[in-house]
Amino acid sequence: MLNYRKPVVFVLMRGRGPGAEQQAVSNSISFPNLEGEPTNGHVSIYKTYWGRQGLGAQESNGSAVAVHWNTGRLPPHRAGLQTVEYGRAPGQLWMQATELRVSSYGRDDMCGGVAAARGFRDGGLHWTAVLPGLVAGETIYYRYGSAVDGWSSPAFFVAPSSPPPLLPPLAQSDGAREQDAEQGINLVRVTRFLAFGDLGQHSPDDAFQHCDCPASRRNTDAMERLVAKSYADGEPGAHAILHVGDLSYAMGYAAEWDAFLHQIAPLARRVPYMTAIGNHERDWPESGSNVGQYDSGGECGVPYAHRFPMPLPTPSPLKSIVEGKGKAPRRRVPDLAYYSFDQGLVHVVVLSSEHIAQVEWLEQDLTAVRRDVTPWVVVALHRPMYFTGVDGKGGDDYKVAAYLRDAYEEVLLRHKVDLVLAGHHHSYQRTCPIFNYTCAPPVEGGGAGYWGPVHVVIGMAGFANTPIITFPPRQFVYTNSHNHGFTRFSAHPEALLFEYLVPLIEGKLGSGTSESVVDGCLVKDSFVLSH
Ligand SMILES: [Fe+2]
Repeated sequence: MLNYRKPVVFVLMRGRGPGAEQQAVSNSISFPNLEGEPTNGHVSIYKTYWGRQGLGAQESNGSAVAVHWNTGRLPPHRAGLQTVEYGRAPGQLWMQATELRVSSYGRDDMCGGVAAARGFRDGGLHWTAVLPGLVAGETIYYRYGSAVDGWSSPAFFVAPSSPPPLLPPLAQSDGAREQDAEQGINLVRVTRFLAFGDLGQHSPDDAFQHCDCPASRRNTDAMERLVAKSYADGEPGAHAILHVGDLSYAMGYAAEWDAFLHQIAPLARRVPYMTAIGNHERDWPESGSNVGQYDSGGECGVPYAHRFPMPLPTPSPLKSIVEGKGKAPRRRVPDLAYYSFDQGLVHVVVLSSEHIAQVEWLEQDLTAVRRDVTPWVVVALHRPMYFTGVDGKGGDDYKVAAYLRDAYEEVLLRHKVDLVLAGHHHSYQRTCPIFNYTCAPPVEGGGAGYWGPVHVVIGMAGFANTPIITFPPRQFVYTNSHNHGFTRFSAHPEALLFEYLVPLIEGKLGSGTSESVVDGCLVKDSFVLSH
């Protein structure tokens, strides 16, 4: 059972829906460290940089990582002790985070619906600490919490980098890596991402939840194995994870955020977990979302903003507990919906499809990209600009896709964006290199050059699949709405390999198939982009 920061009771019901009758109620069940236990840990890339930091300084390749976690509503004298301790070796966590922020939200911050009614459960305090001055490729060991309220279990991540990661030899197991990162650095010029959308969550004991996505558990288990195995093999399983919206499908049932964060923790405590906002996090009428349906259950992006504060704007909208003189602020945070970051060879731009198009910002961001540092540019957003479904061209999602193409496509083309990743449609779909619904023409002898980004719908990670017509339009090179899986892309300086992976427990290797098996997954689709 998860620690939800408040005692819980079990209720036996008979029947279902509004007519269900309560039969029995258990005694109240608590946890030994109910409020103080640090839970829901994950890390994100706060900043990467390459260049001279200060007069006369050496060119350096460094980064800062944000650690996020959750506690109950601790009194100020205990809250003030929360921190992250970290270091370069297990058991030698000599350093402490320099920036610490905390936030919380209440029922009044919800926009309505079930989120403000029976779905509400207090989320406690949401902590973010920044670990600055990390040397790219170093393994950083860390824990969060406090000596008074207890520490998290130890965890580690590899410090992000720009340009390419300089990867030290890694541990044979999670436990310990005694070797100093500076001894025998092994240069591996590849940057790997895991990417997917529309994951949701599923209890390991198969307990029913209001929104249950059994396939999500198969995928997070498979990704966890993939990452752990590659660490043991001394190579990176992933330098970052990109979740392109529709995260937990809590949709107002706050406890399911805890279940989701618990499910992704083995991945997200080790690999920076970068997110885009989806309709099921954000949309609510008259709350500022662009599409305006009821898909967030009344959350209107508030739990998402507190739980996944992506690279924070300066000044941060989240008040420091220190600045607030010990008081945790209780107010709605603004949308933190779009941002960009570098990891290794890849510049990633995350847009919000749930808000008015961010064209000016996108133009500025892409203009500033140094392709000699990050030769690959990937744009991620929740709703696709290109997809094919069973409902012809009349559905709202097609209207949104047309709006997004009108807003962004010319900018993406002009800045030679390589890949556009989206979810929302619960399937895998890959287009040709495309602009204005037109594929690149075949060129005799190859060497076609850049025509437009390849758009990939990767909304097949957990939620029930959405059907696709049998014969999709020819702009779609490969489609699959039968399997659940995730994608991986590996960027080298001159080529990018993209793979759609389906855990073997679900996929079957047919006779005579050309599909291969990699790391316990079927490779259902793969393609290579080259510069
Ligand atoms: Fe969606």
